Amino acid sequence: MKELKKGVYWVGATDWKVRHFHGYELSTHRGSTYNSYLIKDEKTVLIDTVWEPLTDRFLENLREVTDISKIDYIVMNHFEPDHSGALPAIMEYIPNATIIVSKGGVETSKRHYHKDWNLKVVKTGDRISIGKNELVFIEATMLHWPDSMFTYLTGENILFSNDAFGQHFASSSIFNDEVDEFEVNQEALKYYANILTPFSRFVTKKIDQIKGLGLPVDMIAPSHGIIWRKDPMMIVDKYYEWAKGNSEKSVVIVYNSMWGATYKIAAFIAKGLEASGVSYKILNAATADRNDIIAEIFKSKGILLGSSTVNNGLLTSLLPVIEDLIGLKFINKVGASFGSYGWSGESPKILSDYLSKANIKVLQDELKIKYMPDDKELEDCITFGKNFADKLLQEFE
Ligand code: FEO
Repeated sequence: MKELKKGVYWVGATDWKVRHFHGYELSTHRGSTYNSYLIKDEKTVLIDTVWEPLTDRFLENLREVTDISKIDYIVMNHFEPDHSGALPAIMEYIPNATIIVSKGGVETSKRHYHKDWNLKVVKTGDRISIGKNELVFIEATMLHWPDSMFTYLTGENILFSNDAFGQHFASSSIFNDEVDEFEVNQEALKYYANILTPFSRFVTKKIDQIKGLGLPVDMIAPSHGIIWRKDPMMIVDKYYEWAKGNSEKSVVIVYNSMWGATYKIAAFIAKGLEASGVSYKILNAATADRNDIIAEIFKSKGILLGSSTVNNGLLTSLLPVIEDLIGLKFINKVGASFGSYGWSGESPKILSDYLSKANIKVLQDELKIKYMPDDKELEDCITFGKNFADKLLQEFE
């Protein structure tokens, strides 16, 4: 049994082996958890459930702390199936229980499950007494679905934040002060970069609103990964920074290469970056994990895209990264492009156009080199890198 505070229990399910999420869209190298919480006050309250395939494990955990028929309220902070999948099984036991949802939760409940459950709609600032303590609700619309909501427990001062502040991280412990801090922070950043970035403007507003409510926060209990118990506002401050689009004075070079020429260009551009004091990473779009690439780009100010030209276009491995860049709407990034070609040479220009489409400011013209670069052209690559680094540094002035 895992107790957060007296009378508040973690009853979720740990998925040690999951390596892909949202179908196969998101890599989860460190597994994940589906966090569900049970509050025992005069009323018994369940907060969120788990993904449907883990229903049996969830019910076992739940039965360790309560008789399921005793549950009065189920708070559904969000109806994405990883949190609502076990809800139909729970409702078999307590068909008349009240399900507390945001306004957006009415539609997501009905469109996912097509049931006539007893829904109670709450809005920001609404409170429900559960005995000694109260639940306070905070709508978190578009963080990251229209139905998303946070729930705060007075007295114990726990913010149940659903996906916000979460990480795909399986662990034997449930608290941040009992796990590897570096690993958790890395997963939290990857989660933000790959899922929440398009909603950054809502993040800053929501954080300001929560701070404005003046609620003391002892713990932040998200729906994935560990609970922020030690210095819980640290992750809130990080979200605030991430939402503003602040990034490091570094560059990610993402490329693919048919016979090594485009890689050679990348490596010599990197020499130029280094000469100007800008750190870099070189990632092959075909072999590196796409979501890890996105996390690295998220951290860095600059992105350089490189591809050989084939069939008048790009090597295809670049395209999923580009699709993410367009959809995720990173802000305050700068970029440029390069590539080797044999006869037509369209790729660098195509890449620059994609950077512009992703609202990434293109700092300089494309660099393209026919077949293999010679010594003079390798010098051009170094110069390209130096120029890019100098312009990138100017962006910080
Ligand atoms: Fe973890 Fe939006 O579901």
